[in-house]
Amino acid sequence: MKFSTLFSFALAALSVNALPKAAVQRRADAIDDTTVLNFALTLEHLENAFYAGALEKFDEGAFKKAGLPSWARGRFVQIAAHEAAHVKFLSDALGDKATKPCTYNFPYTDPKTFAALSMALEGVGVSAYAGAAQFITNKQYLTAAAVVLSTEARHASWVAGAVNKLESWSGALDVPLGLNQVFTLAASFITSCPSTNPALPVKAFPTLTLTTAGNKAGSSGTVAYNGSSSASGTAVAFYTGLSTIFAPIKDGKFTLPEGLMGTVYAVVSSNATSVSDESILAGPAILEINFNSDNTLVKK
Ligand SMILES: *[C@@H]1O[C@H](CO)[C@@H](O)[C@H](O)[C@H]1NC(C)=O
Ligand SMILES: *[C@@H]1O[C@H](CO)[C@@H](O)[C@H](O)[C@H]1NC(C)=O
Repeated sequence: MKFSTLFSFALAALSVNALPKAAVQRRADAIDDTTVLNFALTLEHLENAFYAGALEKFDEGAFKKAGLPSWARGRFVQIAAHEAAHVKFLSDALGDKATKPCTYNFPYTDPKTFAALSMALEGVGVSAYAGAAQFITNKQYLTAAAVVLSTEARHASWVAGAVNKLESWSGALDVPLGLNQVFTLAASFITSCPSTNPALPVKAFPTLTLTTAGNKAGSSGTVAYNGSSSASGTAVAFYTGLSTIFAPIKDGKFTLPEGLMGTVYAVVSSNATSVSDESILAGPAILEINFNSDNTLVKK
């Protein structure tokens, strides 16, 4: 099975530790409140276009044909309105400093692939707000970010549980992602942006594709990035909750570690025991390690 920059698959367990290092960034002077809000607005524009585009493309008949419940589309219409409201809310706060929408390319081909992608995107939204919170200084903005984050989390849970019939959460804690990691995931959908948009102090890492023989701990996997299958990185770092679990890479291969569950993000790090923006060679990739109510893995 293939875990690429987009979605994927299943496993279970638990583990502890500190905040993923790459999510803890030193406060650069460039990262002020305007920058954080524009970073958030960049994502909200993307989500807004994602839902508007899908709803234009897929009518009620398409949802029915895909075997999705008849009320699902109506809920997606409500979510689309929320994303439009988030865009307006952030744009109003930023005034003439507000970044404008880009053009996008979303790989949904039917309501099912749209719903799977919606689950992944809402999860990235939650991890983006969680990781960016440390840069906000204005307490009113912090409250605004908190209520947007909790709404994105409700979207993520609803689409995962009610529509996709999967787990509505990953565990006790979500994963905070660093700005560059979030931007890497967003950039894969962005075709081009207006040249007048303010430059953000972020960069995209190379796209990472993980392929594994199964979704259980112990399954062997391969790593590919930069068009090469023989990765030179020394480890795959898996983010789950506030933990980072490392799997060494040998000859482009790794073994899926214990302790992964729900939505897991993975990067290739040149440092086998620690991740920072400097050590990330590729990724993140998103792994969906789906599990049932009795904690067994969802068979794919
Ligand atoms: C991957 O490709 C990018 C862009 O070509 C390059 O900057 C980077 O150094 C490459 N990374 C590795 C690990 O080869
Ligand atoms: C890996 O990162 C840790 C923590 O920053 C550092 O102490 C260690 O020297 C690094 N190892 C390598 C091989 O660079």
